[in-house]
Amino acid sequence: MKVVAFNGSPRKDGNTGFALNTVGEELKKAGIEFTVIHVGNKTIRGCAACGGCVTNQNERCVIANDEVNDWIQKMKEADGILLGAPVHYAGIPGTMKSFLDRAFFAATVNGPMMRNKVGAAVVAVRRSGGVATFDSLNHYLMYAEMIMPTSNYWNVTHGLQPGEAIKDEEGSQIMRVLGKNMAWLLKVLAAGKDHVEPVLPEAKILTNFVRD
Ligand SMILES: Cc1cc2nc3c(=O)[nH]c(=O)nc-3n(C[C@H](O)[C@H](O)[C@H](O)COP(=O)(O)O)c2cc1C
Repeated sequence: MKVVAFNGSPRKDGNTGFALNTVGEELKKAGIEFTVIHVGNKTIRGCAACGGCVTNQNERCVIANDEVNDWIQKMKEADGILLGAPVHYAGIPGTMKSFLDRAFFAATVNGPMMRNKVGAAVVAVRRSGGVATFDSLNHYLMYAEMIMPTSNYWNVTHGLQPGEAIKDEEGSQIMRVLGKNMAWLLKVLAAGKDHVEPVLPEAKILTNFVRD
């Protein structure tokens, strides 16, 4: 089994990286392959709202001059997905949001490709905006019908400069517990999926809040 993580911080080895790797250590201890893809230092433009991914049905975003399509395939190959972001202005940093909008939209209208995979999110913050950013990351996982492990608190750790999150003992515990719970959930799903009737996806109803 494998989990692919996406680090939305411009800083590879900052506090988000530390949080992701703390989760990853527990996954690796449980025999699960863990890799981190660095998103936050790339140049990724936002969704063009062109609908090309809906029309083409080829698991791709039509904007093909960056890494987003490769990362969609990495997500497809993985059993679990871990999203990590620092808090920038009480939200997801722009590069990470551009990636998530494009990748999750293309993946959701093609299949849906991420359905029933395990998905979790972690956040690093100096002071405030942590829970709002965690909530925003969870929107992608939930819309994609992913299955979410939890920890013993919301998945947020605190620090300003790279490395400071190491001193947040509670934050580290949150990430550790998340890693253990994620590994357990991955194994339970793998053990059970051949014994329990799958739930088929429903065709999506879009009412756009229009009422007669
Ligand atoms: C542009 C920018 C905006 C930020 N906005 C916030 C904020 O709204 N709230 C906060 O508490 N910290 C904010 N921070 C601090 C980061 O969230 C904090 O340093 C975090 O640990 C960075 O994680 P990283 O080391 O993975 O990059 C901001 C940092 C930057 C660079």
